[in-house]
Formats: sequence, structure tokens, C-alpha cells
Amino acid sequence: MAAGIDDIAIYIPRLYIDAEDFAKARGLDPVKLQKGLGVSQMALVDSNQDPAILAANACLKIMQKNKLSPEDIGRLYVSTESSFDESKAMNSYVIGMLEQVYGKGAFEHCGGIETKFACVSGSYALYDNTNWIRAGEAEGKYALVVVSDIAKYDKGSSGEMTQGAGSVVMLLNDQPRLLAFDPKVTATSIKDEYDFYRPFGKETPIVHGQYSNMLYMIQVRKALEAYKKKIISTGLVKLEQGETILDHMDYINMHLPYSNMGKKALAYLVRHEWRQLPRWKRVLTEIGMDEPVPKDPRGTIESVLGDEEFMTKDHEFTKLFTKTSEYQEVYESKLASSLIASTMIGNLYTASLYLGFRSSLEFEFQKGIELEGKRVGFGSYGSGSSAMVFSGVIQSGYKEIVRDMNLENELGDRRRLTLEEYEILHENKLTLEDPVLQPKREFVLTNVKTDEESRGERRYVFNE
Ligand code: HMG
Repeated sequence: MAAGIDDIAIYIPRLYIDAEDFAKARGLDPVKLQKGLGVSQMALVDSNQDPAILAANACLKIMQKNKLSPEDIGRLYVSTESSFDESKAMNSYVIGMLEQVYGKGAFEHCGGIETKFACVSGSYALYDNTNWIRAGEAEGKYALVVVSDIAKYDKGSSGEMTQGAGSVVMLLNDQPRLLAFDPKVTATSIKDEYDFYRPFGKETPIVHGQYSNMLYMIQVRKALEAYKKKIISTGLVKLEQGETILDHMDYINMHLPYSNMGKKALAYLVRHEWRQLPRWKRVLTEIGMDEPVPKDPRGTIESVLGDEEFMTKDHEFTKLFTKTSEYQEVYESKLASSLIASTMIGNLYTASLYLGFRSSLEFEFQKGIELEGKRVGFGSYGSGSSAMVFSGVIQSGYKEIVRDMNLENELGDRRRLTLEEYEILHENKLTLEDPVLQPKREFVLTNVKTDEESRGERRYVFNE
């Protein structure tokens, strides 16, 4: 049975800080953000918004667009790492908000949980819900998987340049208009790591930035190796002499903590794949230098990062590699369109990969490319750490969804914050009653109780 994504919608808060203003205030070269990281704007939540609101706003949008009633929805999963309760799942808050619109008890039949594994948990939720449909348990109902996060880092830290906020919701069914997932190919890797984590009660994560970059690439490559074996054994792809599995992915979407991480990761994967192939000789000739090897090729990530001579040479080699005509062709045709939205919005943790997918569909369609039948590969990564690689094929009904996509319209009337306004928000100095923007047909947070009996209870309203 086919199963996959029938429709996709986003909710991005309208406040943002511009890379130019941010860099000036932190004494950085704005080009480091814009060109070095691929960050132009970072979306931020207002004082009366939380991750549950971002998720509920996206769910309402997709339900209204598709004229769905709660009866049509069998499962609602929320994936996030911005959770504010250790026990009550975020999907119960989302259902509470949706029931303000659809009526109390309207979702009573609907199952679901909150899932957590840093940025990768949305991919696990998609996989589980796809299998719920494949198993024939859905009885004609849809699953909603909503990925929602606020990426907030300490003031003055290097992570502060890679913030963002927003949610993406995907409607899943057995006759998807957009993308059917390839069966029996999903592959994972997992390892106990401390590259990025957020201990209980801490609002911002503890991050080992360069370590996290490298771990991300290693983990995704391991998952790709497992994916390769699976997709070949299913017979969905047959590798000819001299081919790599990446040749069989028309599009590649990577987790995007900042848009250039997608570029970095693609270059890493392609290098590893091409190294075994006859084309590598041609590429090396174009680069004009040998591929460097670390002093201790079997060393730890720390030892490789500490090998300054290797790191410098490898950096130079990567730069030259990404300029080769063969790599440029892969980058432009498979990845570039997925990076556009990330540049304008920033890191959405769980939602970043799917914002990239949404971006790729819109901007590839605008090029006039026929997308039906194209295979999309996904490289999902979550710190801590786990990676997942899987794929799907774009379906015949995709135009119905994609022709109306317009990122700029959806971002709407954005408000560029001054650095002073940004810092006031970042330090949580604005109250719920005193947001920067007036809400427009969306949910807002009106109260978080503080008395002993009901501490932490949240109240939301839908603002007409
Ligand atoms: P940094 O170490 O300050 O930056 O912070 P850098 O020195 O690596 O510079 C970044 C790039 O800008 C480099 O390019 C520089 O060369 C370039 P690259 O070498 O990579 O090609 N650059 C310039 N370019 C033009 N003009 C200039 C200039 N100066 C430098 N003047 C870092 C970067 C990502 C480490 C930091 O922002 C950070 O810690 N971010 C948070 C962690 C993160 O995003 N990690 C990504 C991988 S882990 C992950 O994706 C999981 C995550 O999403 C969480 C989850 O799973 O839940 C984070």
C-alpha cells in the first residue's frame, strides 16, 4: 500500500532579526553569516507564542485548506525539542487549541504523542505514522505529523547566529498527492553523544559547534550506507557499474541547522561516494591536489579536529571540490532550491529538513521542471545523536499542491526587529500581555498559571 505526504503547510512567526543588524551588534562581519553560514534572517517568536502555538497554527492552516474535519484525522503527532512540560505531551495542548475552533471533544477519537530526539524525531514520527497507514490501521483517516521548534541559543555564543522558529505540518494518507515514501528502505544510525543537548530546566542548549558539524556528517553517512544496502536489496534501485546511490536521488534534502550545513553535508557525502568511482580521477585532476588524510585516520572526532594541518588542507580541498563542474551540477540540481527558505528563516530544529523539502518543491517547480516520478532523498540528523536516511517519489497529484506555494506570501508582513528589541525578547522581558505584534487569525498564549495547585497550566485563545 502507498503511503506518504498528501499536503504540507508551514507556520513561521513574523518577527525576525536581520543578519546585518545582528552581525554589527556582535562585532562580526555580516558576510560570515550571509555567505559563511547562509543565514540572512532568523525568525523569532513573540512574547505570547510558544512551540505548541506554532504547531497548532500550522495544523489549523492545513485542515482549513483541505476542508478537513476532526473526524478525518486519526492521529496527531507533535515532534519537538522545545517542550515545556516533562509529562504532558505537546499534542494535547495542540488538540486543546484546535478544539476551540472545532468544538470540545472533537478530537477525542484521535491518538498521538509528542516525540523527542533533537532534530530527527519528526522523521521517526513520519516513519511510524506511514507504517500505521501501511499496516491498514488508518481506516481511511489521515495522520497529522507536526514538527515545531524554537531554536534559541545563549547571547554571545556562536550558536546565536543560527537561531530560528517555526513549524511544518504534514498530512499523511494512503493516496498521497505529493510524495509516496519508498517502502523498506528507511535506515538509521544512533550513538550516545554530547554534541548538543539541553539539560532539564535550561532554556538554551549546551553546544560543541564544530564537533556537532562533524558528527552530523559521520552519522548521516553511516545511515546512508545502511540505506544503500536496503534500497538495492528491495530492487527499487539497481546500481550500474560506476554509479553511486546519490545518482538515483533526483533531489537531496538535508537537515539544515543553517543553510550552508546542507552544502557541507552534501559535499561530504558526495566525496565519500565518488572516492570509489572512476569519475574521482577526473575530479582530482580538476581540483589539482591530492585528498588530504588526517595523521590518525582511525582517530576520534576530537583528534581529527585537533589535527590543524589536516583541517586546513581539508578545508582547502573541500572548497576546491565544491567548485568542480561535476559537483556544482549535483549541488545546483539536487540541493540548492531546498536552502532558500532556510536562509530566510533560520534553524527550526525538527522542522528544518521539512522546510527544506517544501522550499525545494516550490523553487524547482518555478524552474518549470516536471517533478512527477522524481526520487527525493532525505538526510535527517538529531544531536545526541541519531541520523535517518530515507526516500520517496513525487506523485502525479503534486501540482495541485505545489502550484499555490509562495513562500514570500506565507511569510507575510514580517517585522524586522532592532537589536534592542531582539535582546529584550531574548531575555524574556516582555510579558504575554505586551507582545510586539497584534495576532492575526492565530492562536496566542494568554496565561501560564503560577499558583501551587495549577502551576504551569497554559491558557490559549484563537484571535479572530
Ligand atoms: P563558528 O565556529 O563561529 O563559525 O560557528 P566558523 O568559524 O566555522 O565559520 C562559519 C563559516 O563562515 C566557515 O565556512 C567560515 O570559513 C566562514 P566553512 O569553513 O564552514 O565553509 N566565514 C566567513 N565567510 C565569509 N566572510 C567572513 C567569514 N568568517 C567566517 N568574514 C557553528 C559555526 C555552526 C559552529 C555555530 O554557529 C554553532 O555552534 N551553531 C549551533 C550548532 C549547530 O548548528 N551545529 C550544526 C550541526 S549539529 C545539528 O545540526 C543539530 C542541531 O540542529 C540541533 C539538534 O539536532 O537538535 C544543531
